[in-house]
Amino acid sequence: MALYSEKVMDHFRNPRNVGVIEDPSGVGEVGNLKCGDIMKVYLKIENDIIVDVKFETFGCGSAIASSSMATELIKGKPISEAMEITNKAVAEALDGLPDYKMHCSVLAEESIQAALIDYYNKNGLELPENLKKAAEHAEHEN
Ligand code: FES
Repeated sequence: MALYSEKVMDHFRNPRNVGVIEDPSGVGEVGNLKCGDIMKVYLKIENDIIVDVKFETFGCGSAIASSSMATELIKGKPISEAMEITNKAVAEALDGLPDYKMHCSVLAEESIQAALIDYYNKNGLELPENLKKAAEHAEHEN
């Protein structure tokens, strides 16, 4: 069996939503301390809908494929759905990642949450419960 699914290879070779949003509603940047890879997600939010999303990933192929798939999964969706995205859902949508590459998909989950937290903070809105947990977790890691 091939190590990576066709979907992983497709999103790695032709990543969707690569780039920067000028004047974003929220930006999230996270890194993996072990491998040093970094993922940055930009969100444009209108009426609680993710109307646009872009990413820049300085990392391995699995991280690039994960960010591409994660951005596809949340584009056009309400914030409430985007904040529920898990790295497992991203990996499943990619038809799986090898076990030792699952941590790469965690960057996608965390960078989206970080961008949403930034959006809430910028607008002086109270964080929903599940994002509060993500925010506390991020603080502990810093
Ligand atoms: Fe660092 Fe994949 S090895 S994110």
